[in-house]
Amino acid sequence: MDYVIKMNRVHKNFGTKKVIDNVSIEVKPGELIGFLGPSGSGKTTTIKLLTGQLKQDRGEAFILGRESRTLNHKSYKQIGIVSDNSGLYENLNAYDNLLLFSRILNTDKREIPKLLERVGLKEDMKKSVKKFSRGMKQRLILARALLHNPKVLFLDEPTSGLDPSTTKEIHQLMLEMKEAGTTFFLTTHDMAEASKLCDRIILFNEGKIIESGTLEELKLKHTQEKSVRILLSSGENIELALTSENSSKIAMLIANNQIMSIHSLEPTLENIFLKLTGRGLQ
Ligand SMILES: Nc1ncnc2c1ncn2[C@@H]1O[C@H](COP(=O)(O)OP(=O)(O)O)[C@@H](O)[C@H]1O
Ligand SMILES: [Mg+2]
Repeated sequence: MDYVIKMNRVHKNFGTKKVIDNVSIEVKPGELIGFLGPSGSGKTTTIKLLTGQLKQDRGEAFILGRESRTLNHKSYKQIGIVSDNSGLYENLNAYDNLLLFSRILNTDKREIPKLLERVGLKEDMKKSVKKFSRGMKQRLILARALLHNPKVLFLDEPTSGLDPSTTKEIHQLMLEMKEAGTTFFLTTHDMAEASKLCDRIILFNEGKIIESGTLEELKLKHTQEKSVRILLSSGENIELALTSENSSKIAMLIANNQIMSIHSLEPTLENIFLKLTGRGLQ
């Protein structure tokens, strides 16, 4: 199979509002794709269309070669979805939450403790979920999505609002799963997350793909003139484009021992996004 996930010119309106506008995506086996866009840009809608929870108005979407609108029980056994509408049973403990889903999915229940260990919840598995922190719940949702060892995992802003150490653990787990061959579709508005994890990044705004490529490709393509930030001995910070005129100015500053530090300014995803859309990612 060439593509695990494929979208071809998909459109979706809610009423008269165009939410998904002519979106095409291709994700190869084992790729970790990042769909980076601000809140309200249509990321969750894209996941819902791909996973058959919503139907597009026009265009086609496929997962593992099957049209998203016709996914069946067998297809869902190969797909994991981690979204914020958790569907956890607050009155059950962590183990029983997974046991319930293990029965629905008909998976080996002996895997449950191993999974809970993998997401760092083994100690708390007999604790009622209503006593869980947001980070613990998110790890449990992730464990649930892994019960049936899916080939494709959709993660909808999986670390949004989590503390840095939980975020790091989730990233680590994702990278391990990627090593083992899982294909990922990750949505995020966090450019650091996208930069760190993704093989390819799709920049998404107002229902449209505005750019895509590897981080390096995006940076190369959108590097305007190179510039540097200089901290002067006087305490003043200046930014200079590396023109020939400024180069002699910098040489002068160095000769006069007026420079404390000098850093090259690399374009960040945030800056690229800003340049392309005129808005930030938050
Ligand atoms: N079921 C729905 N009915 C009407 N509008 C919706 C529905 N779901 C999402 N929207 C709208 O579609 C746009 C995209 O939403 P969403 O896909 O949730 O964005 P994101 O996940 O990027 O924050 C938003 O303007 C949102 O208000
Ligand atoms: Mg969303």
